[in-house]
Amino acid sequence: MARYAVAVTGASGSVYGLRLIEQLLTKGHEVIIVMTEAGRDVCGHETGFDMPAEDPARTLLRFLELPLEMPLRNACCKDLFDPIASGSYPLDGMIVCPASMSFVAKVAHGLSDNLPSRAADVCLKERRPLVLVPRETPLSLVHLRNMTASVEAGAIIVPAMPAFYQNPETLDDAVNFVVGKVLDVIGVEHDLFARWGV
Ligand SMILES: Cc1cc2nc3c(=O)[nH]c(=O)nc-3n(C[C@H](O)[C@H](O)[C@H](O)COP(=O)(O)O)c2cc1C
Repeated sequence: MARYAVAVTGASGSVYGLRLIEQLLTKGHEVIIVMTEAGRDVCGHETGFDMPAEDPARTLLRFLELPLEMPLRNACCKDLFDPIASGSYPLDGMIVCPASMSFVAKVAHGLSDNLPSRAADVCLKERRPLVLVPRETPLSLVHLRNMTASVEAGAIIVPAMPAFYQNPETLDDAVNFVVGKVLDVIGVEHDLFARWGV
């Protein structure tokens, strides 16, 4: 069993983050979720899931219709004392899903001013997988440069871009494709989409 941090920031596409958490837990992995303030707001607006201050992890498990004993822990965005802020804490990787352009800028420039940006910075310095799932369009030169700098520093970018060669029939199919690509890069097996040629 691996242990992953999943940050949900204020980009559109929080459904990707929630589906990713559901998949990681279902595959037997431990998940630490951290939502930025904007991430919480956008998630509430887009999915109807409002992360409560009281019992957030169990509330999310209920929302995802998962067993309440699954290993999900909520970390507070402002809590720089959380274990994932330290390189000595054994984390197998972090996925920022969705990743706002503001967050990508922080990663590109080493700004560790809250828990998720610090945890991302820790992944880079410890050479652990850091996956960014941006959802922005169109992209400015600033966005492109920040993504390039993030990749140069060791991050992996999996843009939230559903493919059509799978002939998706529902929005769920499109979401599953993006989340499946994220799972592919961290080496977690899944059956979220049919593989070409297999
Ligand atoms: C409904 C809504 C959708 C948004 N979608 C995006 C988006 O797709 N990509 C993006 O980079 N920012 C998006 N934003 C802006 C971010 O939420 C904003 O830049 C915020 O400061 C990001 O903060 P965070 O990185 O701490 O979550 C959106 C904001 C709102 C209210």
